[in-house]
Amino acid sequence: MPGEVLIVGGGLIGSSIAWRLAQKGARVIISDAGTLGGEASSAGAGMLSPNAEFDKSSASRDLGLESMRLYPSFVEELQAETGIDVDFRLFSPHDGIVDPGALLRALHCACESRNVRIIREHVTSVEPRDHSAVVIAAGAWSERVRVPNVTLPAVVPIKGHLIGFQLEPGALGPTRRLGETYVLQRSSGFLIAGSNEQDIGFDRTVDPAICEDIHRRAARLFPLLENATPVQRWIGFRPRPVEGDGPHIGRVAGSNVWLAYGHYRNGILLTPVTAQRVADEIQATQASA
Ligand code: GLY
Repeated sequence: MPGEVLIVGGGLIGSSIAWRLAQKGARVIISDAGTLGGEASSAGAGMLSPNAEFDKSSASRDLGLESMRLYPSFVEELQAETGIDVDFRLFSPHDGIVDPGALLRALHCACESRNVRIIREHVTSVEPRDHSAVVIAAGAWSERVRVPNVTLPAVVPIKGHLIGFQLEPGALGPTRRLGETYVLQRSSGFLIAGSNEQDIGFDRTVDPAICEDIHRRAARLFPLLENATPVQRWIGFRPRPVEGDGPHIGRVAGSNVWLAYGHYRNGILLTPVTAQRVADEIQATQASA
């Protein structure tokens, strides 16, 4: 609809941009093909560790650190608006965790109370002229959306496995990690161990051998897991950009189309900074139009 911002994708990135825009008074519509964040947003463990996840002194690491600085006020504002606890904890200024599922519920609740329209449909193409702005935020599925006269940068899904255990709350303490192995624990006691990487497309099979390998690696980091039995096993698809070493965030030159995807291993960490940048830019263009 003219005058409305269309956001394709209702995961953490799309919903947080919608929330920020709605706070600024914009009329926003989210279109989501699936279960509103049912993919990478809810599969992620919720580890917020920019120093561990990025190469030293890279633009991506700076972006991660900037987002980490925004996290406490982002969460505080969201929790105050919705009353939903997102289990955000900081172990140090650069190391924390959040529950991505709770964050997603809070963002959807905040969007709904600010009259963001949410439609559940599979968008295969968008016509930017029909909207004041269009944001592509569909994670690993983003480049499948057709936009006239715009070639969307490619992303590949990088599959990862995770396993979960129910333990006593507080059993672990701060997140532990070594190489691609990590363990973190929510306040409820639910402990998540990850992970691995596979470039094999959208294959949703949960591989028991990979889960056992993660269990063995995780038990080396946290020996209490040796005799524990996983209560959950799942996979997710990280959207890795084919070109460049960071996510695609920003306006496509000469258009009213914004990109907000390709966050690879750090979509949850980079949610606040992506939302702020994209919403600020869109608002600035609307104000000057
Ligand atoms: N950010 C951790 C992972 O993608 O496995």
